[in-house]
Amino acid sequence: MTPQKKLKKKIYYEQEVLNLTFTFIFLDMQPPLPPSLSYKAPGSFEETRYEKLHNVICESSSEGSILIAHEIAALIKEKQKNNQNCILGLATGSSPISVYRELVRLHKEEGLSFKNVISFNLDEYYPLAKEDVQSYHSFMYAQLFNHVDILPENIHIPDGEVALDEVRPFCIAYEEKIKAAGGIDLQILGIGRTGHIGFNEPGSHENSQTRTITLDHLTRFDAAPSFQGIENVPRKAITMGIQTILSAKRVLLMAWGTNKAEIIQKAIEGPISSMIPTTYLQLHKNTTLVLDQEAASELTRIKTPWLVGSCLWDEALRSKAIAWLCGVTGKSILKLTDEDYNQNGMSDLLASNGSAYDLNIEMFNRLQRSITGWPGGKPNSDDTYRPERAEPKKKRILLFSPHPDDDVISMGGTFDRLVEQGHEVHIAYQTSGNIAVSNQDARRFLEVTQDLLEVDNAYPKVAQLIKELEEYNPQLPATRGLCALKGSIRKRESLGATRYLGIPDEQVHFINLPFYETGLIDKKPLSQEDIDLTKQLIEKIKPHQIYAAGDLADPHGTHRVCLDVIFEALEQLKTKAYMKDCWVWLYRGAWHEWEIHEIEMAVPMSPDQVLRKRKAIFYHQSQKDGVMFQGNDHREFWIRAEERNAATAKKYKDMGLAEYAAIEAFKRYHFL
Ligand code: F6R
Repeated sequence: MTPQKKLKKKIYYEQEVLNLTFTFIFLDMQPPLPPSLSYKAPGSFEETRYEKLHNVICESSSEGSILIAHEIAALIKEKQKNNQNCILGLATGSSPISVYRELVRLHKEEGLSFKNVISFNLDEYYPLAKEDVQSYHSFMYAQLFNHVDILPENIHIPDGEVALDEVRPFCIAYEEKIKAAGGIDLQILGIGRTGHIGFNEPGSHENSQTRTITLDHLTRFDAAPSFQGIENVPRKAITMGIQTILSAKRVLLMAWGTNKAEIIQKAIEGPISSMIPTTYLQLHKNTTLVLDQEAASELTRIKTPWLVGSCLWDEALRSKAIAWLCGVTGKSILKLTDEDYNQNGMSDLLASNGSAYDLNIEMFNRLQRSITGWPGGKPNSDDTYRPERAEPKKKRILLFSPHPDDDVISMGGTFDRLVEQGHEVHIAYQTSGNIAVSNQDARRFLEVTQDLLEVDNAYPKVAQLIKELEEYNPQLPATRGLCALKGSIRKRESLGATRYLGIPDEQVHFINLPFYETGLIDKKPLSQEDIDLTKQLIEKIKPHQIYAAGDLADPHGTHRVCLDVIFEALEQLKTKAYMKDCWVWLYRGAWHEWEIHEIEMAVPMSPDQVLRKRKAIFYHQSQKDGVMFQGNDHREFWIRAEERNAATAKKYKDMGLAEYAAIEAFKRYHFL
C-alpha cells in the first residue's frame, strides 16, 4: 500500500471514530482543501480570531507528519538545485518519530539525498553519555541518521558528556557553528506539557541562547517511563535558547494527542509569557503549528465554535453545544431557556432549529435512549431507539483489550452484564503487557516457583531467570525468558479475572501482537503480521459485537497501535458476509472518557456491580500499588475507573436524567 493510500484510510478512520467535522463547520468558511502548511498571518479569518499563532489542523498525526516531512524534503531539494546547504534544526521526543519515518522512506524509495543537509539538534540531557539508549544522540541515529546519507561531519547534537567547566564554551561554540552555517533554514519543534520548546522551560528569556537548564518536574515526570523511573531522569539539559529558535527562517511545531490539547490552547490563544515559552513563537513571522484533531480540541473554534462564528448545526454539534450549555448555566437540559441559548452564542441555533423547548426535548431523548442495561441488546423488545439490536438474542462477542486489564478497568461492568445475559463472550488480550511487570514482582513469582520446584529438574531454568533479573540492564532489551515470565504473570492474572466473571478459559485469547515484543518501552511499528493475527481471531469467532479501546491520546502509545491494528483488520475483512452483522463499540482506556455528546451507549451499574468490577480489577495484582506505568495520574487504576464511571453518572444526573451509581460509556464505530 502506498503511504498516500494508507493516509487516506487513516483519515477516514479518524473521521469515523470521532465524528469530528468541527474544523469545517463554519458557514462562511471555504470548503475543506487538502491541508497545506503555507504560512498565513494569524487572525486573518473570523474563525481564527482568538488565535495568535498560525496553525493547521490535520485529520491525524500521520497526515501531519507526512506534510512536515514533505516540506522538509522540498526545502532540501530546492537547496540542492541551487547548490546550497540546507540547515535543519531537529527535535527529538515521540512527536517527530513519524516525520523521520517518512523522511527515511523518501530517502529509500524516492531517492531524497541528505548530502547537502547540515543538522543542529535542539537539545540533549545533561549529563548523559551518547551511547545511553535514552540519549537524544542515540535517538537521532536510530530514528534518522543511520538510515539516510547525511554526512557524519554535518551532524551537530549538544554533547551531554562535556565536562561541567567546558559547558559554557561548548554552548557558545554551538551558537557560532549555527551562525557559520548560515543560520537555521527550517526548525522543527515539539512542545512539552510545561509549554517548553527545546528544553526552554517556563521562565526562559526571549534572548536566551544555547545553555544548560534545569528541567521542570513535569518534564522529568513525562520522561520517567523511558528512564525506568523519575529518579533516573537527568535533572539538567543543554538546550538551544529561545533566541536561537526565533532566528530560524521557518519554524514548524507539531503536537499530537489529547495530552497536548491544553498547552496548545494556551500557546495559541494566550498572551506572550515567559511562563509558557512556546508563546514566544508569536513573535516569529513564519511559524506554523501542525496539530492533529485531538491536540486542537481545546481551541475555541473547535471546542465552542458557536462563540466564534456562525455554525452548521448538525446533530453532533447540537449535542455538543447543549451539553456545554448545561455545564456553563448549571442547569439540567429541560430547564434551559431561550435566554440561555441567546446569551451563550447560540442564537443562530435557535433561529434555525426553533425554540429551546424543541432543542431540549431532542437532546433529552437522545441521552435517554443511550442508556441501556442490555449492552448486547434487549431480547423480545422493540429496538428502534435502543443502542443495540434485539436479534440475535445470544450474540457472539469479541472484546479486545490492549493490555491484560483494560477490559475490566474500562468496561468491567458491561463485561459482567454481557456474560450474565447469556452472550458468548470472548476476550482477546492484544499484547502481553510484560513490560509493565516490575522486577520485584517477577522475582516474587520466581521464588515461589523455586520453592515448589526445589527437587525438580526445571530448577536450573528458574535459577537462570533469577540471574537474568539480577543482571537486568534497563538500557538493553529484556531477555526472552524474562519477557515470557512477565507475560505469564499478566496472563495468569487475567485468567483470574475472566474466571471470576464467568468466562471459560477457551474463550480467552492471548494474541501477543508482535509489535509489542521488543523487551523495551519503544515498540516496533505495526506490521501485517499484527493485522493477520487479529483477522484470524475475528474470522474464527465471527462476532456480532466487537468492543475495542478507542484511545487517541498518544499516537505512538500501545492503545493507539492496538486500535489501528483492529481498524486495519476490519478494513481488510469488511467484504465478508458475516461482517455485515458485526457492530463495533469503542470504550475508552483508563485515561479519558468520551464526552457526553459522543456517548451512544451508556451502561449503568448498581453499587453491587461496581464492587464486582473492583474485584475483577484486583486480580491484576502486578498493576496495583504504584505501578510502573502510572501515567500522569497518581490514582490506582481501580480508583480511576470508579471515579470516572461515577463522574459520567453524575453528568447524566446533572443534565436531568436518572441517577445511577456509575455508568460505562461507548461510542459506535461504523466501518462498513
Ligand atoms: C526534544 C525537545 C522537547 C520535546 C517535547 C515534547 O528535542 O526539545 O521540547 O519536543 O518535550 O516531547 P514529546 O514529543 O515526546 O511529547
